[in-house]
Amino acid sequence: MAEKPTVLLVHGFPLDSRMWKAQQEALSGDFQVVAPDLDGHGASPRGAPAHSMDDIARSLAERLDAAAVRTIHLAGFSMGGYVAFAFLRQFPERVLSLALVDSRAGADNEAGRAGRDAMAESVRERGAGVAAAAMLPKMFTDAADASTRAEVERWMLEQPAEALIADLRAMRDRPDATASLGGIRVPVLVVVGDQDPITSPADAQAMAAAIPGAKLVTIEGAAHLTPIERPGEVSAALHDFFSRAGAK
Ligand code: MLT
Repeated sequence: MAEKPTVLLVHGFPLDSRMWKAQQEALSGDFQVVAPDLDGHGASPRGAPAHSMDDIARSLAERLDAAAVRTIHLAGFSMGGYVAFAFLRQFPERVLSLALVDSRAGADNEAGRAGRDAMAESVRERGAGVAAAAMLPKMFTDAADASTRAEVERWMLEQPAEALIADLRAMRDRPDATASLGGIRVPVLVVVGDQDPITSPADAQAMAAAIPGAKLVTIEGAAHLTPIERPGEVSAALHDFFSRAGAK
């Protein structure tokens, strides 16, 4: 029997792989799903967190090598999308298709970079609660239920401060991927919540328009964390996209 194609799901900030729980379940019938905690996050068995998108991507490639996985369908949520761009830059021959979920191609502007430094300093002084307090209100619409919100907050609070500080540095210094969009030669899916306050629907539209043949799916009634606020829709979009991409 042919082996199932591999899907690699890369989590966002300040989270770990638990954010992909619903998609792991939904995709695992037809794909081998790899949803790692980035180094230093969650329950990662690997040590110190990486401080750049390129290093995070290299670490993921090493893990795939260790599992004898060569090519992947790649999905990144928000910061995970920044990692996905770095992975595609370094290992283009390993990427069969790419899903960018509530993510963006641009780099931080000066104010954004200063904000990363300020948050890193606050996390250093007071811990993960600072990141949770800043991010949680942007993750969900007002309609999201309290228990889901509380569970996600718990995951955020469990992240080591050192990992969050490394993420903030990597996000602050990430290169602008906008100029590379027109040269992407694999199938691309862009997913965005219609009320995403971090990576806006307008940004997602512009990003999809700049990538040859990219498909845009807008998730109604969702803010930033679409894989959790609208798990069924996001899982279906990913399943449909990776299945079609794999059939090509
Ligand atoms: C994320 O969800 O990973 C972050 O919000 C991304 C960012 O802050 O740029």
